Amino acid sequence: MAELKPIRLGVNVDHVATLRNARGGRHPDPARAAAAAVAAGADGVTVHLREDRRHIRDDDVRRIKTEVNAPLNFEMAATEEMLRIALQVDPHAACIVPERREERTTEGGLDAAGQHNHLAPIVAKLSDAGIRVSLFVAGDERQVAAAARLRAPVIEIHVGAWCEAVVDGHKQAAEMELGRIVAAARQAASLGLEVHAGHGLDFATAETISALPEIVELNIGHFLVGEAVFVGLEQSIRRFKAAMQRGRARAGAGA
Ligand code: PXP
Repeated sequence: MAELKPIRLGVNVDHVATLRNARGGRHPDPARAAAAAVAAGADGVTVHLREDRRHIRDDDVRRIKTEVNAPLNFEMAATEEMLRIALQVDPHAACIVPERREERTTEGGLDAAGQHNHLAPIVAKLSDAGIRVSLFVAGDERQVAAAARLRAPVIEIHVGAWCEAVVDGHKQAAEMELGRIVAAARQAASLGLEVHAGHGLDFATAETISALPEIVELNIGHFLVGEAVFVGLEQSIRRFKAAMQRGRARAGAGA
């Protein structure tokens, strides 16, 4: 049996910025939250610089990159502006996400299949600069195959629909969505892609998803920051890490 890889937690600090921006000013500072997250055991920090700068701002990205000693995962839309910023900031990784101005959050996966010609030069320029590219795609065979054709080394599977079905108690839908995630993770790994997952994860869903041996990184923000209101950032991160370790132990047991 292949050796079971450890699973990493990337902490997304976007919503620390959301809270700061509600009042303007500087508090709470997402760079401080990022440093605290790393001190509490986060394996990396994730930020999404949206076109409208509704949460993370340019200066946050630069400060987190220079002040925080952990790999930075820069989530970005596939635009010329974001490509220019990514190349300037030089993060460890860039995750290309679909972005529509009016959406509340990233609502679906990237159309890697339909947008091949638009995405190919962006993936190539980031890769040439030594930035590890990941594509945020749905658990869909066509999209996973397209990500491999684009030569992205990583995909992040959008698990939001599954998480929503679990939270809403829609058992059948949840089983169907989880089936898609499992199939996509296996397909991606068989194509040589590294597999991550993210969107909408809470303690229970993070534990379940960590039992999939192909998945080696989770990127988690909203629930983690929300939970920090009740238990503190450090505890919230520790609980996520513990849930992920429990899930991983199940993967090791062949579950
Ligand atoms: N991964 C990606 C690619 C995302 O776009 C987001 C949301 O910004 C997340 C992970 C984190 O999702 P959540 O905030 O729901 O945990």
